[in-house]
Amino acid sequence: MRKGGKYYSPATKMIHWLMAIIIIGLLVVGTLLENMANGPEKFELMDLHKSVGVLALLLFFLRIPLRIINPVRPVSGVPKSTQMVAGAVKGLLYLSMLLMPVSGILMSQSAGYPVAMFGWEIPTLIAENEQINEIAGLTHGIVSKVLMALIALHILGALYHHFIRRDETLRRMIRD
Ligand code: HEM
Ligand code: HEM
Repeated sequence: MRKGGKYYSPATKMIHWLMAIIIIGLLVVGTLLENMANGPEKFELMDLHKSVGVLALLLFFLRIPLRIINPVRPVSGVPKSTQMVAGAVKGLLYLSMLLMPVSGILMSQSAGYPVAMFGWEIPTLIAENEQINEIAGLTHGIVSKVLMALIALHILGALYHHFIRRDETLRRMIRD
């Protein structure tokens, strides 16, 4: 970590891009699943979705302490109001990155399906329960749509910084 918190650490950059790819992939695959007929292909893809979804949760738990030890201040000259919007979007991105896998796990387990990450079964947090299944399923579906909108705003923000404001924001998330 460099003094002053002007730059992201290499680990922060790596986990940002790794999780960006994983989460966009999960959103695409989840949407495909939603539109697939039951059958062996769907169950195979669903297993992959769950494995990668649990991996996203583990990465989230790695990312939060990294965020705490490597806070970064906004690039200079960005108006307070813009900073607040960007900060709110990032906060909601973090919240969604927690809610998505947790609701997914609860949805599966409350339906009586064990959850495994690439063959390694995770502990059962919850017994079969129809009501919880319904709430977790609704949460998973609604938050996924909110997350798509947040990511769109977040990407537009990055492009705005890079091409219109022409500042360091995108560059410092890519390289030193
Ligand atoms: C960051 C993590 C995750 C993201 C972004 C994500 C995204 C999605 C999306 C977009 C859908 C389609 C929802 C809809 O249109 O209603 C979906 C469905 C689903 N997800 Fe996830 N998911 C994640 C993690 C998980 C995890 C960890 C599990 C379970 C262990 C899981 C299990 C499911 C199941 C069972 C479905 C329903 C498929 C169906 O019945 O058609 N997801 N997910
Ligand atoms: C093409 C896609 C993406 C681009 C171009 C992008 C770009 C950026 C940039 C430039 C920053 C640094 C902002 C700053 O310095 O203030 C950033 C931070 C961040 N991004 Fe992304 N991002 C992308 C995808 C995603 C996705 C999919 C997620 C999560 C679902 C995400 C979550 C975050 C979070 C939480 C931060 C804040 C890091 C911190 O705590 O300081 N990003 N992104």
